[in-house]
Amino acid sequence: MDTTNILELPENELERKLIEISQKAMEKSYSPYSNFRVGAALLTSEGKVYTGTNIENASFGATVCAERTAVIKAVSEGYIRFKAIAITSDSQSFIYPCGICRQFLSEFDKGEMKVICSNKSGEYKSFKLIELMPCIFEL
Ligand code: THU
Repeated sequence: MDTTNILELPENELERKLIEISQKAMEKSYSPYSNFRVGAALLTSEGKVYTGTNIENASFGATVCAERTAVIKAVSEGYIRFKAIAITSDSQSFIYPCGICRQFLSEFDKGEMKVICSNKSGEYKSFKLIELMPCIFEL
């Protein structure tokens, strides 16, 4: 995605921009089983944004969350350092990343990554990933 100069935006504008991108990504959600659409926008340290949606499967355990879809897209293209991820859904409640996604994101975090948790109105709460996942499993 063309996000030229996104890193130059003031913090709150950057957060809102990522939420807007995640809302757009949500439109591509494949969620025929839960009808719960999720969108994610992952900002790399280089200023690129990778989007993701949840991709469900008839074998429910094979479902992939929006956050992991975005990380898989970025890492498979060689981007492994991230500044932030915004997550959104159709719900008026804030959406927080599930436990698997917290662990998955933590693999690539050096203590700096922010998680922007929004609701359908675009209101949001922002955390450091390490606050949401303080004791990760490491090898
Ligand atoms: N889901 C996500 O995409 N991200 C989360 O952090 C939580 C859950 C998806 C998985 C499934 O498709 C739907 O939401 C309902 O659980």
